[in-house]
Amino acid sequence: MSEDAKTLKIPFIEGDGIGPEIWSVTKSIIDTAVKIAYDNDRSISWINVPAGNSSFIESGDPLPKSSLDTLKKYKVSIKGPLTTPVGGGFRSINVQIRQKLDLYACVRPMKYAEGVASPIKNPADIDMVIFRENTEDLYAGIEFDVNSPEAKSLIDTIENTFKQTNIRFPNSSAIGIKLISQEGSERLVKSAIQYAVENKLPSVTIVHKGNIMKFTEGGFKNWGYETAKTFFPEVTYTWADFNEVKKLKGEAAAKEFLQNNAAKGKVLMQDRIADAFFQDILLHPKNHSVIAATNLNGDYISDSVAGCIGGIGISPGANINYETGCAVFEATHGSAPDIAGKDIANPLSLIFSGVMMLRYVNWNEAADLIENVALNLILKGKVTADLLEDKSKGLACSEFGNTFVKEMNSFQLSGLATKN
Ligand code: NAI
Repeated sequence: MSEDAKTLKIPFIEGDGIGPEIWSVTKSIIDTAVKIAYDNDRSISWINVPAGNSSFIESGDPLPKSSLDTLKKYKVSIKGPLTTPVGGGFRSINVQIRQKLDLYACVRPMKYAEGVASPIKNPADIDMVIFRENTEDLYAGIEFDVNSPEAKSLIDTIENTFKQTNIRFPNSSAIGIKLISQEGSERLVKSAIQYAVENKLPSVTIVHKGNIMKFTEGGFKNWGYETAKTFFPEVTYTWADFNEVKKLKGEAAAKEFLQNNAAKGKVLMQDRIADAFFQDILLHPKNHSVIAATNLNGDYISDSVAGCIGGIGISPGANINYETGCAVFEATHGSAPDIAGKDIANPLSLIFSGVMMLRYVNWNEAADLIENVALNLILKGKVTADLLEDKSKGLACSEFGNTFVKEMNSFQLSGLATKN
């Protein structure tokens, strides 16, 4: 897509459960913002892409090939949440989309918006961007059911060929494979460092469980540090560099080394073992800026950090392949069947994902408008109940959408004045 295009063709997947409710609100907000920001000179032509439960019911296929082809063709798209049956049925459509389009980086900015109810004392200390590896790890989908010929054969090989004796219950084990590669780790950490450099952020923390899983999680950590050394030698440094200066020149020189690096905008590469990182989220969030994590750890971390700043109903996400440019922006929460159809879902996660998408295509003016109005509404408490201490004051999803559009229109008339 050319950046100076006045009409962008963008595929969307409405999603299951609360998907249609939050998509309808998000679409009208994005359309209005584009109209206002570019004085009717630009627009988005939306292409409806079937996927998920509704597509399964209609065509027997939850992810038709034509849908994948459309996402590939137009490169930039947006989606609502999709339901995945547990313990049977079809494989996660979200995971399939990420794998088939090789969207290796799941990017989730996590920043506190003033006014949101939070369970922690200083939520404003949280300002992190999580880069979760999206295609490998236990999510590769190589998993065999208990008593299947594949599970039996694998267990037999592990016990009799590899002479491993620590499968506790070999006759009743299902088995899955954890895959972490050098290439996969390198491209993920590369995008995390690149992001830190471009956005002038102070550090990249590699989160791993390498103390237990030496070659997979430990590999991720080691390859992460090597990536910094190989591709970003001029703009990154580590605590080992700090210790070296301290050893050679003393404490004061080492402190100066840190200050100089920070002043020059250099990126500190550090790592944390996953369990300690979860403690850091609560106790030392200011020590972390950009996070690079393996797939499963990244999944847990994303929801945990989101919980500290208002929950998954507000945090946006994107799945990106920085090499092909292909990107699917998405709400980070699921299809929330418990509240579907009740008009109480919070559409902000999808709306903020739309903001990320507009920035990705360089339509920053429309993105700024949505972001400003959203932050203003959050500050005024004009949001859905999940973000409020007093749930009785929450707006319905559709009501929030109407208020948002009205606010953008008055924003157009009076600009920043409406922020007060
Ligand atoms: P969920 O994220 O759908 O819901 C967890 C809790 O958060 C529920 O209490 C729900 O009501 C609440 N919640 C979620 N989104 C909300 C919103 N926008 N506003 C207010 N409250 C919200 O997770 P759950 O229940 O584990 O999964 C439901 C389905 O969604 C499953 O089939 C799961 O596989 C799928 N899923 C899909 C994802 C995706 O499409 N990217 C991500 C996570 C889950």
